Amino acid sequence: MGRGIAGLCALTGYDTWVFDADPGAQRAVRASIETSWSRAVEKGKVTASAADAARHRLRIAERLRDAANVDFVIEAVPEALDLKRMVLSELDDVCPDRTVFGSNTSSLPITRIAHATGRRDRVIGIHFFNPVAAMPLVEIVRGRETSPETEERAVAFARSLGKEVVRVADSPGFATSRLGVALGLEAMRMLEEGVAGAADIDRAMELGYGHRMGPLKTSDVVGLDVRLAIAETLSAELPSERFAPPGILRELVAGGRTGKKAGEGFFRWEGEKAVAEGPRAAELAKKR
Ligand SMILES: NC(=O)c1ccc[n+]([C@@H]2O[C@H](COP(=O)([O-])OP(=O)(O)OC[C@H]3O[C@@H](n4cnc5c(N)ncnc54)[C@H](O)[C@@H]3O)[C@@H](O)[C@H]2O)c1
Repeated sequence: MGRGIAGLCALTGYDTWVFDADPGAQRAVRASIETSWSRAVEKGKVTASAADAARHRLRIAERLRDAANVDFVIEAVPEALDLKRMVLSELDDVCPDRTVFGSNTSSLPITRIAHATGRRDRVIGIHFFNPVAAMPLVEIVRGRETSPETEERAVAFARSLGKEVVRVADSPGFATSRLGVALGLEAMRMLEEGVAGAADIDRAMELGYGHRMGPLKTSDVVGLDVRLAIAETLSAELPSERFAPPGILRELVAGGRTGKKAGEGFFRWEGEKAVAEGPRAAELAKKR
């Protein structure tokens, strides 16, 4: 997500810094973003000169503090509250007062993330969707102490990136993850119960309800590890059993079959395409 967001910011005209704590990921960032720009140029979505200009605006920081002198930070580290609080607390020490901290969290409480900083009024949820360049929505999540000025800065920033916004109050899973995960988890339980195969469950929602992508493919695209983390947060925070992660989700994540990025989840993936049901999903379907 961080690469997608940084790529879009640089392409839009912002001077953009990326910092990743993993040296391997840090080395791979530029090539990965530039490859996505080249693909966009090939498809005629971006001009070659815009991609070239963006290249000069994108900088990779070796240390967090090298990237600190900015107006807006978007944190996109893994979905774990303590990690996000630690990263924002570090940023709080090195960024100037004017810097707004946006978190791309899919489900964690913005108010608790903000409490790790001395600038609770300038922390906000700015939730992008995958793939960042293609998905039109940004969900803006107001923490309890987020100021109206910060909210307007975040809304204006998201709109400047060509996105539409929805505004929601800080509550577990916000609007999108709560509804999206509810559908995804129910689809997984239906697969486990043998109601239908993975491809048929997805087709039911794509053709019957006009969803662009069915709930199991969507889970694969998001990353099953990310979905599991969200389900765990929701099941701890909401007084209901309905977000308890199904066994199949835990099993696939434990086996490293985390969806599209691993080449396998509920489906087998070749690049951007789901080419067949994954072996475990096919096995469950056979039990019907
Ligand atoms: N995957 C999705 O579809 C999706 C969609 C919307 C929001 N999100 C949210 O975006 C965030 C990131 O998700 P992702 O799927 O990109 O995760 P990811 O695991 O693919 O990427 C996280 C990156 O953060 C880096 N990182 C780890 N610790 C760090 C630290 N201390 N400082 C700097 N970098 C660090 C990792 O090296 C990795 O490159 C999560 O909060 C997730 O819930 C994900």
